[in-house]
Amino acid sequence: MDLTAEEQGMLDGEEGRAAQRSMEILVALGKIYDAARMVPVTSVQVSGVSYNNLGDAGLEFLHEMAGDGRTRAYSTLNPAGMDLQHPEVLGIDGDFVDKQRAVVEAFVKMGILPTMTCTPYYVGNRPAFGDHVAWGESSAVAFANSVLGARTNREGGPSALAAALTGRTPAYGMHLDGPREAAVAVRVERPPTGTFEFSVLGMAIGHRVGNRLSAVRGVAHATEDELKSYGAAIATYGGVPLFHIEGVTPNPVGDPEEEIVMSAAEVDEAVAAARDEAPIDFVAVGCPHLSMDEVRQVADLLEGRKVTKEFWVCVAREVQEKAREKGYVQTIEAAGAKLAPDTCMVVAPLKGRFRAMASDSSKACYYGRGRHDFQVHVMSLEDCVREAVR
Ligand code: F3S
Repeated sequence: MDLTAEEQGMLDGEEGRAAQRSMEILVALGKIYDAARMVPVTSVQVSGVSYNNLGDAGLEFLHEMAGDGRTRAYSTLNPAGMDLQHPEVLGIDGDFVDKQRAVVEAFVKMGILPTMTCTPYYVGNRPAFGDHVAWGESSAVAFANSVLGARTNREGGPSALAAALTGRTPAYGMHLDGPREAAVAVRVERPPTGTFEFSVLGMAIGHRVGNRLSAVRGVAHATEDELKSYGAAIATYGGVPLFHIEGVTPNPVGDPEEEIVMSAAEVDEAVAAARDEAPIDFVAVGCPHLSMDEVRQVADLLEGRKVTKEFWVCVAREVQEKAREKGYVQTIEAAGAKLAPDTCMVVAPLKGRFRAMASDSSKACYYGRGRHDFQVHVMSLEDCVREAVR
């Protein structure tokens, strides 16, 4: 790889041990993917924050990096395994709390902002079209690439941290033009409306086309919340870092060599496959974390009602505080539901605590099954609330 003098200096250890280790990680990645050079990044979203996923080995690595590692790019943090301020409200206690706090302290020491959300674009980290960034967290990556038109690969925890500490990422994949073009067009028989329908369409298309980049045809309009839900789903079920919706998303689509049709029946089958039998004892919305308008919708639906099951509303802390000013948080809490800032139903340590989870997010259902061994029921937000108050 062609390195600048500054990059070579970091690799040689002139900027300290953490910068050197970071540059070693990035050069190794660049060699694997045949990158000709590094590219400076304007922002980083660091994933791999929950102690539930990191364990002691991960915490030790972060302690080492925090020795002399300091950010060289604006960097924000993905959700942790608990509400950092009130873990007890969500039933999280013991050793986990201390370990999770130590994880976040190490990130903060390095200069990473403790936003603890997978929607950094709601709390100030919102790249412009064409910006090169290095983001972890698949839904955030899909949003940055597809909705904002920024350029990022799907970074893992170590490579995102390495980008934060060097301000660089290897220029391959989504940083180039060609790999961003669609390989397959998907004509949608029943255009979706609302975040739930976009989420299950993303699930069905992800199932069908896998990791080939796709361009949806036949959807004339989508809100940002709908695109967020679609992106989270297709990034989960297809493993892709970018999607196109022709006429809606801002990137050049290219010239897909194949067109397939996504029938309404196939979407319905995908939904049916994400509905298990066990009675629901946990309802969780906010995957990805909710926008202010989505928090308002939850509050409107819960107004004057009482939940009979554990109900989590996952959200960025900053959005929660703004929602409190508008009275939405008070309405949600008066109904007995819980705000879950800094964390979510997937990265919190919930295995064994619940049997069956309902969510309006097909991504949450995928990981609820995979990580927590929950039975799951994907359903609309309205049905989630109906289920919660039953
Ligand atoms: Fe965000 Fe957790 Fe879902 S990190 S995208 S709410 S799995």
